[in-house]
Amino acid sequence: MIAQQPPAPAGGGAVRPAPRNLKIIRAEEIRTVMGAFVAGTGLTCMGCHVQGDFASDDKNEKVVARKMLEMVNDVNAKMFGGTAKVTCFTCHRGEAHPKSAPDPK
Ligand code: HEC
Ligand code: HEC
Repeated sequence: MIAQQPPAPAGGGAVRPAPRNLKIIRAEEIRTVMGAFVAGTGLTCMGCHVQGDFASDDKNEKVVARKMLEMVNDVNAKMFGGTAKVTCFTCHRGEAHPKSAPDPK
């Protein structure tokens, strides 16, 4: 049985503002998706975000990442019945610039 949720504790005193610029994901997904972005591309949070303003789209990496997420969602919808078979990691393998050809032998 789920009791009434107590008010969210202020984590370390930090106030988490409500998201203002989500075009694809839902607020509840931010933590998981951002974790997957970092692990998938090897970029840090600030590799895509402007310091102090996560909602800003000023960094090109963030704009590209959103398009990449659209592409991944599209492929998964068309090819894999909506299951997350293709992820950022599938291509990026933890690097910002994935290889498009094998290393020469
Ligand atoms: C590869 C690029 C990338 C990385 C790395 C990344 N983000 Fe994001 N982040 C995005 C994109 C793209 C969105 C917008 C998603 C959408 O439009 O649905 C976003 C949205 C957000 C938002 C919501 C902002 C708002 O107000 O709309 C927060 C908060 C956030 N990210 C935090 C983080 C944190 C914390 C990290 C590090 C753990 C991180 N992000 C790493 C690309 C990135
Ligand atoms: C089908 C393969 C593929 C998938 C899946 C993919 N990417 Fe990419 N991504 C690329 C390629 C190729 C580039 C161009 C790399 C280059 O310019 O060297 C790229 C570039 C990027 C860049 C720009 C890097 C830079 O520093 O200029 C970001 C950011 C990025 N991808 C984020 C993501 C995120 C986030 C996901 C998951 C939602 C994702 N990508 C999924 C292939 C992919």
